[in-house]
Amino acid sequence: MSAHGSPIPMTAHRSGPLSGVAQVPGDKSISHRALILGALAVGETRITGLLEGQDVLDTAEAMRAFGARVTRHGDGEWTVQGVGVGGFAEPAQVIDCGNSGTGVRLVMGAMATTPICATFTGDASLNKRPMGRVTDPLALFGARAAGRDGGRLPMTIVGAVDPVPVRYALPVASAQVKSAVLLAGLNAPGETLVIEAEATRDHTERMLRGFGANVRVEDTEEGRVITLTGRPELTGQTVAVPRDPSSAAFPVCAALIVPGSHITVPGVSRNPTRDGLYATLLEMGADIRFENIREEGGEPVADLHVRYSPDLSGVETPPGRAASMIDEFPILSVVAAVSKGKTVMRGVSELRVKESDRIDAMARGLEACGVRVEEDDDTLIVHGMDAVPGGAVTQSRLDHRIAMSFLVLGMVAQAPISVDDAGPIATSFPVFEPLMTGLGAALSRDSGGGR
Ligand code: S3P
Repeated sequence: MSAHGSPIPMTAHRSGPLSGVAQVPGDKSISHRALILGALAVGETRITGLLEGQDVLDTAEAMRAFGARVTRHGDGEWTVQGVGVGGFAEPAQVIDCGNSGTGVRLVMGAMATTPICATFTGDASLNKRPMGRVTDPLALFGARAAGRDGGRLPMTIVGAVDPVPVRYALPVASAQVKSAVLLAGLNAPGETLVIEAEATRDHTERMLRGFGANVRVEDTEEGRVITLTGRPELTGQTVAVPRDPSSAAFPVCAALIVPGSHITVPGVSRNPTRDGLYATLLEMGADIRFENIREEGGEPVADLHVRYSPDLSGVETPPGRAASMIDEFPILSVVAAVSKGKTVMRGVSELRVKESDRIDAMARGLEACGVRVEEDDDTLIVHGMDAVPGGAVTQSRLDHRIAMSFLVLGMVAQAPISVDDAGPIATSFPVFEPLMTGLGAALSRDSGGGR
């Protein structure tokens, strides 16, 4: 459902060439972190390019509830007056994180080593997702959690009165869990260590350093060891949020598959821990050029030039690459559906616990559109075809990336493809519809795709 309750059906029709400049919104992961670290710093943090999607707005509201002053000054321009590490106040109300797993997990970490109590909830999607992966390590700091069966929201966290530092080896490759532990470690004395077998997105480590924390990263036999020195004084910073490579993926993939397209997507983050989709597309034969590579706000960025690529071929994505493209498998499976041969995506079991079970959501929707798919717990295989029949209404399942993926597929299918509710797109990419139609995509607000 949309943020306001009523579903917004949307249909994508076969589209002419896409062309122009796609100014995609700010990075969602970095936007959450800028607000949270701004709230934990002393003094003012100025943010430009903040993603004003619902997920991030919910985190801004959460930071207000913990005592920070968060102000919007204009398009993507925000300031945060922080309360300092350990300075969070106890919220008077339940914290509603909406659809956002990142929001709730990072905020739980940020408050877990302060002696306050907070209750968290979310929408029907978030309230199904596992929180034990975060509350288990937070318990090691001395925090207590009580939630619904299976570690689900709504959930109350009672922060540790006398936190101890932690050494934690991540049991799943998750930047959210890693970040929750690091944020909790901020208000524990001594050194907190997180060990990850596979590198996950490293925005928290980068930004913590930028705010003045001492963070060391070493590659060892055990994996990547991240050591944070607790109780730093974080000071307010200026954060320029780069554009989101996960959002850029939608116009980029659309341009690759819609005949005759040529688009530019400026200022997109090229952080190597987020780069798996782009590496995969190049292997498939995509015509993408990365120009004007530079550093902005502590992150590498580039301008992307993307051309229609008629000879894409299926590939196999190895399990070790999954973390660096974890949000991009839905749109990759759309590209796979119109590529030659099959695309095998391995090591993707984490997709089962995203905003929806993304393996199931993509498999059922692709099948409804006439595409052959195989799946098991950890693998998704999509068989490419010359022309995708389409002509189906797919279910977005409260998942923005599922909705956007099927709308991109509809731009090249023989018959239109609808999503039952495009409302969730507002969580990460509120300007998706005007941006895509501005490039030439044929989208309409109705549910005309069904046969
Ligand atoms: C995110 C981490 C990923 C990703 C999510 C954003 C983050 O989740 O799917 O959209 O900002 O840390 P996991 O860390 O659970 O894989």
